[in-house]
Amino acid sequence: MSMQVKQAVVRYPEAESTNSLALELGRQGAAHGTVVVAGRQTGGRGRVGRCFVSPPGGLYMSVILRPDLAPANLRLVTLAAGVACSTVLEKQTGVAPLLKWPNDLYSGRKKLGGILTETAPWSAAPPGVSFVVVGIGLNVNSLPPDFPPPLRDRVTSLSDITHQRYDLDVLRREIVRQLDSLVAGLEQNAAAVLSLWRRRDFLLGKNISWQEADGPVVHGAGAGLHQDGRYLLRTPDGLIHPILAGVLKVHLEQQVEPGRS
Ligand code: BTN
Repeated sequence: MSMQVKQAVVRYPEAESTNSLALELGRQGAAHGTVVVAGRQTGGRGRVGRCFVSPPGGLYMSVILRPDLAPANLRLVTLAAGVACSTVLEKQTGVAPLLKWPNDLYSGRKKLGGILTETAPWSAAPPGVSFVVVGIGLNVNSLPPDFPPPLRDRVTSLSDITHQRYDLDVLRREIVRQLDSLVAGLEQNAAAVLSLWRRRDFLLGKNISWQEADGPVVHGAGAGLHQDGRYLLRTPDGLIHPILAGVLKVHLEQQVEPGRS
């Protein structure tokens, strides 16, 4: 049993991006478990260069971790973060989000949050000082009208779902605790973390498409998480494509629902 992680919390009422601040703190040597939290973000960043709209009421935090992990296992940190968020939200709020690979949180058909893991360039860091920043954005006490019109129909929040308000500090503390213990477990038993992730797979059996860089768009069905953390797409002719990067879309309007959403 590992000791509970000491969370040194650095708070800002407003920040451009907590991930940028945490990357800077990490470079300066901030300890494992340092958390940067902002009340809102003016330049929140998402995957593949997207922005993450961050109005007041959401939980926006970036956790600095210094895990003892082989570089190949680093991508599993993002998956562990999804499991940590989903597990804590289910316990604290009764809302059990599903995970859209690599790590958006969905409730029903709407986005509840996202995770962006960033690392300092691995090779540039002397041994022992490498770190990972896990950036987590969750729509908690914000509501869809707080988002710009194109997003309003596509986002949800805990308050939108349950009509209650939540203590952001409690959610932050529990998620970081859970994240730390799952990441510590990755080295010994990554399979256990992956199987927790698989129980919450949003894309499984759904119509999805995938495009890498300027390559062709590949259509198929979500076929689950591979043991190395890549996601599998099965084309209609039965070929399996393991997906590592690029843009993965889910086509909900064309779904034959298997009764799970
Ligand atoms: C995504 O939706 O693609 C990932 C979104 C990640 C958002 C969080 S909010 C806290 C942290 N700071 C950022 O700029 N991004 C992450």
